[in-house]
Amino acid sequence: MVRDHGFHPVRIKRIVQETPDTRTYVLDAPFPYRAGQFLTVRACGALRSYSMSSSPDTDSELMTTVKRVPGGLVSNWMHEHLEPGDVIETTRPAGVFCLRETSAPLLALCGGSGITPILSLAKTALATTSRRVRVLAANRDADSVIFAAALAELAARHPDRFEIRHHLDDLSGFVTDAQVRDFTGDDLDADFYLCGPGPFMELSENALLAHGVDSGQIIAERFTPTADEPTAVANALPAEGNADGKADGKKDGTVSIVLAGKRHTVPQHPGETLLESARRAGLFPPFSCESGNCATCIAHVTEGEAKMRVNNALDDDEVTEGWVLTCQGEPVTPHVTVVYEN
Ligand SMILES: Cc1cc2nc3c(=O)[nH]c(=O)nc-3n(C[C@H](O)[C@H](O)[C@H](O)COP(=O)(O)OP(=O)(O)OC[C@H]3O[C@@H](n4cnc5c(N)ncnc54)[C@H](O)[C@@H]3O)c2cc1C
Ligand code: FES
Repeated sequence: MVRDHGFHPVRIKRIVQETPDTRTYVLDAPFPYRAGQFLTVRACGALRSYSMSSSPDTDSELMTTVKRVPGGLVSNWMHEHLEPGDVIETTRPAGVFCLRETSAPLLALCGGSGITPILSLAKTALATTSRRVRVLAANRDADSVIFAAALAELAARHPDRFEIRHHLDDLSGFVTDAQVRDFTGDDLDADFYLCGPGPFMELSENALLAHGVDSGQIIAERFTPTADEPTAVANALPAEGNADGKADGKKDGTVSIVLAGKRHTVPQHPGETLLESARRAGLFPPFSCESGNCATCIAHVTEGEAKMRVNNALDDDEVTEGWVLTCQGEPVTPHVTVVYEN
């Protein structure tokens, strides 16, 4: 197990107030990372992922940008309690919302805090490639626009390769299908990066597909679960049938979960994820999004095999090494052992 998925103390060097409800935390964190990745913060007994707004190729400091979510536990706590000099606990950067090896243009559609990884990607693409970059940044109103100055500066420095288009809901309503088409223009061969509120991403993705963009060119980072994803909690209800879940005859095996060095074994239940099996065993393993986006539920499969329903967080090497998102992994062999590091 060569990967480090544990938590590390990280000091906050500075805090930048970007907008009334958005702050950037400049971290004293010597972590290597790729543009577009995120780290996961442990605070208030919860785990939340935050993307880097900095670029490893143009910024000497690692920065992550957090927008308050009304009523939200961790984002509000960070805004209200953290000061420069404070130490927070974070994982090392992770995630696969990264640049691909291509010379195709990069077109990004983002809403609200979704600009965070997009700024990182844009800075790296402009600094390390000759690709054209165009960003559509949708926000409620002018006061909500995050990184307005940084985006204007990129446009001034790369007039031939970078374009920023701001969309303000209070002036033009929500982004429409026609606006996505107009933004895309003739660049149907581009890589499209989407990050923002669920309905915005859904509209953008559908508009791009209808416009003829291949689904393989659409790369999405979801900050919140989509409504139609089965949640682990919903599936955690005991399966009907006898105690070993064999009522439909589909499963006949066990899942062993190693948490805090102790092994617990339960019978497999049909359609149950590894995280759900762990909960059924009375355990409280780490998790956050339960949608395959954040990697906080990561564990190592040491025996047998599990297949993930969704994986938006682990790269191919990690999957090959046996890492699994337990909120998405279902056993495909009669016996599976999964080991949590944290
Ligand atoms: C891979 C990844 C990267 C992320 N990067 C960033 C980032 O760079 N900056 C950033 O600000 N956030 C980012 N997020 C979102 C962040 O992890 C939290 O979900 C967000 O801060 C809300 O957490 P909370 O504890 O404040 O709210 P919670 O207490 O978890 O949620 C309160 C309520 O708000 C809803 N909600 C949760 N998140 C959002 C949201 N983003 N927008 C609207 N409603 C929401 C929930 O459904 C819930 O009803 C990222 C998420 C993921 C999975
Ligand atoms: S809890 Fe986020 S990927 Fe599993």
